[in-house]
Amino acid sequence: MDKISIFVETYGCQMNEYDSDRIINSLMADPVNNPEDADIIIVNTCAIREKADHKAVSAVGKYKKLKIKNPDLIIGMAGCVAQLYGKKLIKQIPHLDFVVGPREIPKLRDLIFDIKESPNHRKINTSMDVEEVFKVNPYHKPGKVNGFVSIQQGCNKKCAYCIVPTVRGNEINRPLKEILEESRLLINQGAKELTYIGQTVNSWKYEGQRFYNLLDHLEELEGLERIRFTTSFPRDITSKMIDSMEKNSKVCRQLHLPVQSGSNRILKQMKRTYSIEWYRECILKLKESMPDLSLSTDIIVGFSDESTKDFEETMRLIEDVKFDTIYSFKYSVRPGTPGEKISNHVNDDIALDRLHLLQTRQREISLENNIKQLKKSYKVLVENQSKNNPNELFGRTSQNKAVYIKNISEKYIGKIVEVTKTEAFQNSFIGELT
Ligand code: SAH
Ligand code: F3S
Repeated sequence: MDKISIFVETYGCQMNEYDSDRIINSLMADPVNNPEDADIIIVNTCAIREKADHKAVSAVGKYKKLKIKNPDLIIGMAGCVAQLYGKKLIKQIPHLDFVVGPREIPKLRDLIFDIKESPNHRKINTSMDVEEVFKVNPYHKPGKVNGFVSIQQGCNKKCAYCIVPTVRGNEINRPLKEILEESRLLINQGAKELTYIGQTVNSWKYEGQRFYNLLDHLEELEGLERIRFTTSFPRDITSKMIDSMEKNSKVCRQLHLPVQSGSNRILKQMKRTYSIEWYRECILKLKESMPDLSLSTDIIVGFSDESTKDFEETMRLIEDVKFDTIYSFKYSVRPGTPGEKISNHVNDDIALDRLHLLQTRQREISLENNIKQLKKSYKVLVENQSKNNPNELFGRTSQNKAVYIKNISEKYIGKIVEVTKTEAFQNSFIGELT
């Protein structure tokens, strides 16, 4: 096959971003920024909520006119919506040439070859038992300062609302050796900061090694300056993990720890396996060990028969913990999940009111937290030029706070610099070299 050019449109989580980069490498393709220049267009989809599905399907719809102009163009859908509705999508969308599930990415090249051989043969590749799920490394733009490394596929938890175990299968942990190899590859291409990803990343284990051992191995990687990981499952935070994070010179002071609800009654129905007291205790231990740790969380409102009192407990939690960021969602029923069998979910209007209250208060908290950091100096890894202002560079602190740095030379891209924060917003700062 000649070298092909590819345009990938990505929806959803970091795992999908990572998979999009694997799609590019699996096809040994050249990524292009304009779909009109592409031989292949792939929409990598997210099924986590109802709206996410619909968005993905309409995204494929908008490429129909390109296919009419250029009948050789191949259009595919990847990701969780593809996995969930494979056959249905092929029937529903006549200009779609193939659907491919997350576990089939390593076999994409063969699939495209087959389509080129027999163009009228549309393909559905959504098998779950593909061996070597981690086989293809992600494409990394040379010189890019940060990158992702997947250490786990799928999820073994059974949260009642969640479609991930259905579309991404059971948890498969990646061998330590492969994790280190892929890390070295990205570091050699210029990465200074790597984010290790998995649905419950801290439940990773392999041949007797646990997640806290993995952190020790990663610290030894030469050239790697910063380590992040996401998403952590609260129940799998152990004292050993906290100790390992604390003493590791490269692990960033940032933890995403989805709580979902502040009410024990709802947590139980969600099958989250921890109580709110347990979660609060866990936060206390983390903060005691790392006082400068930045915390973020996910919250779902309106699940099952969530009462005003249950919701107030969620509000109390956010008031007490003062998370830096919260990703909050209105519950949306997902096909095939246990939540689908619950008939009395909170009605939409009430759920939307609760979401609004939560988000309004959280915006204030995020800003209050940020204002407290003004005039202080932080280590910032400079990533690139600011998209809004060519005279500023963009970087992040260890706590994952976005900082736009003024009066700084481009030679600092890829370097860690001391920056004093001079202006605070809800999601970012302006700063100057200290
Ligand atoms: N593996 C992660 C995240 C999974 S999905 C974890 O351990 O939590 C990301 C977030 O989407 C979840 O944390 C949850 O807050 C939200 N989410 C998942 N299913 C949802 C649903 N059916 N409706 C609304 N939000 C949902
Ligand atoms: Fe979903 Fe719960 Fe796993 S939110 S990804 S089933 S930990």
